[in-house]
Amino acid sequence: MIREYLRALPVFAGDLPTFAPADVPGRPDELFVSWLVAAVEAGVREPHATTLSTIGPDGVPSARIVILKNVDAAGWQFAAHAASPKGRDLARHPAAALTFYWPALARQVRVRGTVRPATAEESAADFLARSAESRAEAARGRQSRPLDDRPTPEISLDPGYVLPEWTLYTVEPCDVEFWQGDKHRQHTRLRYSRATPGWDRQLLWP
Ligand SMILES: Cc1cc2nc3c(=O)[nH]c(=O)nc-3n(C[C@H](O)[C@H](O)[C@H](O)COP(=O)(O)O)c2cc1C
Repeated sequence: MIREYLRALPVFAGDLPTFAPADVPGRPDELFVSWLVAAVEAGVREPHATTLSTIGPDGVPSARIVILKNVDAAGWQFAAHAASPKGRDLARHPAAALTFYWPALARQVRVRGTVRPATAEESAADFLARSAESRAEAARGRQSRPLDDRPTPEISLDPGYVLPEWTLYTVEPCDVEFWQGDKHRQHTRLRYSRATPGWDRQLLWP
């Protein structure tokens, strides 16, 4: 029953943008920013949310959503508690994938690479830019622990307090793939692969 229900759900409905891979910039972060801005303008909710996939100690991947904090030639940045499961995965195996999907535009971006923690100063600046509630919750240090019925402890943080485990991470990409969906299934895939110097570009069968 659910099989037919799923099969009947539409994909790539509505007006979709075109994508001309011949006109792209030489750097993937520049194309990414233009796609991100297009997603914002198309009204995509949380367009800066991305699925972060890491490798667990048992070799099984784990994926969860995080918020993109910055992107530039150095890479894609997100922030997390270093003692969280994802932080421990990254300490053991500093590699990850980020997957963005902007449904209104039928666009996906996949980023793969090595992960480097930022300096303590950069991580501190990210922590201090968070809301008071987010800082207090991070400082409780209970993320991903079993939720019990103990009352939430009141925490009043000094405004300059920085949680030492809060970490800004940079995914330094080895490849970045842009995927544009098409109503008639003439999808377009373009992969940037790191070269020395710069980037190679290759179209792929969708
Ligand atoms: C829209 C959205 C944004 C999120 N942003 C973050 C984030 O920036 N950093 C973070 O650590 N967790 C974020 N989370 C929570 C994570 O998805 C995840 O539940 C949590 O970090 C625990 O992951 P872990 O147990 O694999 O370490 C976000 C969740 C959602 C749905």
